[in-house]
Amino acid sequence: MSTRPSAPAPATPAPGKLPLPELIEMKRRHEKIVTVTAYDAPSGRLADAAGVDLILVGDTAAMVMLGHTSTVPVTMDEMLFLTRTVTRVTHRPLVIGDMPFGSYQVSDEDAVRNAIRFVKEAGADVVKLEGGGRMLSRARAIVECGIPVMGHVGLTPQSATMLGGFKAQGRSADNARQIYDDALALEEAGCFAVVLEAVPAPVAARISEALTIPTIGIGAGAECDGQVLVWHDLLGLYEGRAPRFVKQYADLAGVIRDALESYVGDVRVGSFPEEQHTYSMPEEELALFEEQLGERPHGREQHG
Ligand code: KIV
Repeated sequence: MSTRPSAPAPATPAPGKLPLPELIEMKRRHEKIVTVTAYDAPSGRLADAAGVDLILVGDTAAMVMLGHTSTVPVTMDEMLFLTRTVTRVTHRPLVIGDMPFGSYQVSDEDAVRNAIRFVKEAGADVVKLEGGGRMLSRARAIVECGIPVMGHVGLTPQSATMLGGFKAQGRSADNARQIYDDALALEEAGCFAVVLEAVPAPVAARISEALTIPTIGIGAGAECDGQVLVWHDLLGLYEGRAPRFVKQYADLAGVIRDALESYVGDVRVGSFPEEQHTYSMPEEELALFEEQLGERPHGREQHG
């Protein structure tokens, strides 16, 4: 009798999962790679059903889910918790665990340890980290452990203070060249894709042309090999000012606000719940119940 487990081992892609090498094939076939962020089971399920290729459990969760004003405060444990809620319910899309600030900057060892936590504890397929320079060594170390890494250059929100705020990058020749070189170096370090955030479209186009691996753009123009948007921006759920590059496809905050106001009004005037929202019981049981209550003394005095 076989003693082999029937469930796939952790490093084995689950049946139906988009194979990672398919992303390079999609780039070669000029098929766009669709990515969206998600942070919980309902959003993960809906993204999967809509046919997205990659789900990023982004550290934007700090802002759109946890109420912080930047991505910096979110912790490893919070990111693992959120990632787990997405991986539990999704099937085809590759789920990317976004390594939060502080989880990889200090050393290659930290980076590897935390990337492993994303895979083992949260079921992430791959991880993402921000930056070039020293982060190339982090990316290489994680890839060498068998965990695929997505790079992220241009506007890297974890270092927004150093970059002078949440603003477009690569608008001077030298800065554009730096981003171009970083993207190439991330491919060289073994990354399977690179996010280009808030970079002029012609710069992103040249980077996309130069790389074999796909570029996933956000505010980087249509020549990127794929696009990513933040769930709350795309659906009109984030109440702050959206960046210029956001296309809002729905006004869910408005829909939710209207629904909640109707609910508040209905409860206040007693028009909810109606008969259809309640449970019945057999007449004779109700009569017995009333009889029992009738026989008992009422009021506080019965408790002494
Ligand atoms: O955390 C995030 O959502 C991101 C995207 C903006 C690319 O990194």
